[in-house]
Amino acid sequence: MTIQNQGARHVAIIMDGNGRWAKKRLLPRVAGHKAGVEAVRTIVRAAGDMGLEALTLYAFSSENWKRPEDEINDLMGLMKRFILSDLDEFAANDVKLKVIGDWRALAPDVVALIDKALERTSGNKRTTLAVALNYGAQDELVRAATAAASEGAITAEAIEAHLDTADMPPLDLLIRTSGEVRLSNFLLWQSAYAELYFTDKLWPDFAPADLQAALDQFARRERRYGGL
Ligand code: IPE
Ligand code: IPE
Ligand code: MG
Repeated sequence: MTIQNQGARHVAIIMDGNGRWAKKRLLPRVAGHKAGVEAVRTIVRAAGDMGLEALTLYAFSSENWKRPEDEINDLMGLMKRFILSDLDEFAANDVKLKVIGDWRALAPDVVALIDKALERTSGNKRTTLAVALNYGAQDELVRAATAAASEGAITAEAIEAHLDTADMPPLDLLIRTSGEVRLSNFLLWQSAYAELYFTDKLWPDFAPADLQAALDQFARRERRYGGL
């Protein structure tokens, strides 16, 4: 299958709406998160087929600790299962895993699992899948500015070099599902000149055709970066 993608190298997605997807079906919220993991699988595969170099997915924010403990445990459990069960799939699709955010502060078993997955996929080349875990852009910027200051002047270049995404291509397109029109502390620095795309689709319903529609719209946008 050849799919057109004109120009986007790095796409990020705020995967929102799992809870509402479940509610519509009179199911518990965890059922929405499970369906959300299925959507992640499909979209990661599609992103590779569409020629994206990098896909960054917002999985758990630094503010999501405000949720009930049961839901947090469900989310962490799903995360662990996803990483374990998809390691072979990452190898088959040449996907290199990356994790951004303060993920080393997560439970030791989660950290160990991530370390293993990072190591196992480190040689893969086609697509980088960056999962934002315990991620908050303000926290990322504080960490980056602190690191920059410890080396000398705090310049834009120095901050950028210490962002969690420093080794990734510039962010081209930021997508948010579920109809909310806000960034919720995601990639604030990186989205300075990214194109934004909002869709009412709930995350578990977001399909490769929806990613294609976003990329098609991206291809029609004129990026000016402040110039003419
Ligand atoms: C997104 O879905 C998943 C996470 C934030 C982990 P939500 O759980 O926020 O779903 P809604 O917004 O309540 O529908
Ligand atoms: C953003 O969604 C975080 C993730 C998708 C992981 P939220 O559902 O947490 O965002 P708010 O609370 O509606 O802003
Ligand atoms: Mg939400």
